[in-house]
Order: sequence, then structure tokens, then C-alpha cells
Amino acid sequence: MAYDNILVEKRGKVGLITLNRPNALNALNSVLIGEVNEALAGFEADDKIGSVVLTGSEKAFAAGADIKEMSSLTYMDAYKGDFITSWDNVSRFRKPIIAAVAGYALGGGCELAMMCDFILAGENARFGQPEITLGVMPGAGGTQRLTRFVGKSKAMEMCLTGRMMDAQEAERSGLVSRVLPVDELVDEALKVAEKIADFSLPITMMTKESVNRAYETTLAEGVRFERRLFHAMFASEDQKEGMAAFVEKRAPQFRNK
Ligand code: CAA
Repeated sequence: MAYDNILVEKRGKVGLITLNRPNALNALNSVLIGEVNEALAGFEADDKIGSVVLTGSEKAFAAGADIKEMSSLTYMDAYKGDFITSWDNVSRFRKPIIAAVAGYALGGGCELAMMCDFILAGENARFGQPEITLGVMPGAGGTQRLTRFVGKSKAMEMCLTGRMMDAQEAERSGLVSRVLPVDELVDEALKVAEKIADFSLPITMMTKESVNRAYETTLAEGVRFERRLFHAMFASEDQKEGMAAFVEKRAPQFRNK
């Protein structure tokens, strides 16, 4: 399948999606989002894919929603077309997905990265929600997800002033899991994704589902949900294999069952 705004590759068990609109710093227009969703649907359906990396260029992961496409929208266009809701597909992707962010991750770019399971950042990464400077506010989950990642004070300051965070501050604040040299970022993200893809796929999917549940529920309900999935794992062949391999002092051969 050929795409105009993204590059899609398979690296062994890892799917790699690279946002590729260099002339617009990977600004997210409706065509690009449609392509990302199509690529993700392909990876979701592909039994050989165990995880995905989503990245951009060294200068920009994505500089936000496409302002030129968005500027003439009316309220009725936005409401009837349910503007931006289709972006949420990324947060509903069921296999593990890592954002590898170098350069600008602004507005919808920051929001897209936060929809992934975790963010690895290049040393030059800059995160921000500058929508306030355009006369709007974040519309792809930024006011909610950024607040959960970095807490109210920083999220409020960023959303109300448009101030950007650099990679070090983003790591200190819990927005990104690690900061890496820019030229090693994608390779390291692929290595991490490969490690995840080598585990049992249903187990990594359930693990992701359980961690994500922490954002949607109370502690008691979340722990109950975790317990149910944990118990269910004992019905999988991979639990038997993983534990037998430990006892027999050999590497496990997960069968994704
Ligand atoms: N939409 C459309 N085009 C964009 C864009 C965007 N979000 N960001 C950058 N571009 C385009 C520029 O218009 C420019 O195109 P031309 O050469 O045709 O003029 C090209 O990309 C390069 O950009 P700059 O010349 O501005 O590059 P720079 O290095 O001087 O500045 C920048 C980089 C600071 C990121 C600057 O481009 C910028 O501020 N971009 C807009 C960031 C922004 O406001 N993002 C939020 C968008 S709103 C949103 O995302 C809503 C939501 O919640 C979903």
C-alpha cells in the first residue's frame, strides 16, 4: 500500500510508521491521519506484528494539526464532521505502540505522542500545547492527557501560555520515559519494540490494557480489573511456557496462545 504522507515498514515483528510531510513539519491533516489509521489497522490485523513505533523526522515529530486546513472550519463543519475524533484511533490501537519523538511535538503532535503507550524522546525534542496562541485550546486530548502525565500546574501553564518543554524537563515531569541522542532514537525505539514483540502478544496486549485502565477508573476497580486479567493469563499456553522455561533454565518460546 502506497501512502502520500507517511512511510510504513515492517522490521521483523515491529511495524514502523514515519510521518512524512517534511514541508509542513509533519502537520497533521485529515489525509495523513487517515493514512496512519489505515496503517495501524493493517498492523492490528497482521499476526506477525507484535508492536509498533510511530516517529517523525529529526526536526519534527509533528508541529500540530494542520492550521491551514483547519483555519476556515465553521462550528457546523467541526461538529457535523466530528473533527479530530478519528485521531483517537491511535489510543484504541490494541498492540503496544511507542512514540519516538525528535524535534517539535506541538499541539496535535504532542497529543498524538501521548496517545501512544510511552514516549522515547530525542535530546532535541520540544513538547508544547500552543493552541492558545491560535485562539483555541487543545482538542485532541491535550488538556486531559497532559494533565495526567505532568500534573495540573505544568499542564495548566503549558496550555495557558503555550510554553514548550524541552526533553530534559519532559523526562523529569514523567511525560517521556527516556531521553536519547537524536541519531540513536529510532534504532533504540525499534530495539525496545522488538523486545516487547518477542514476548507473548496476548500478554503484552492485556498488560497495556491494564496499565491504561489506571487512567479510567478508581484504584479498587483498577486492581480488580488487573486481577481478572492476571487470572485469565493462567489459561494461556504462554504462561505455561514462560514459567516452564524459567524452571528448566532455558529461553521461552512464546506461541502467542
Ligand atoms: N500547520 C500547517 N503548517 C505548518 C504547521 C502547522 N501546524 N507547522 C508548521 N507548518 C508549516 C509552516 O507554515 C511552513 O510552511 P511554509 O514554508 O509553506 O510557510 C513550514 O511548515 C515550516 O514551518 P516554519 O517556517 O514555521 O518553521 P520554523 O522552524 O520557523 O518554526 C515552529 C517551527 C515553531 C514549529 C512553527 O512552524 C510553528 O509554530 N508551527 C505551528 C505550531 C502550532 O501552533 N501547533 C498547534 C496547531 S493547533 C492544534 O494542533 C490543535 C489540536 O489540538 C489538535
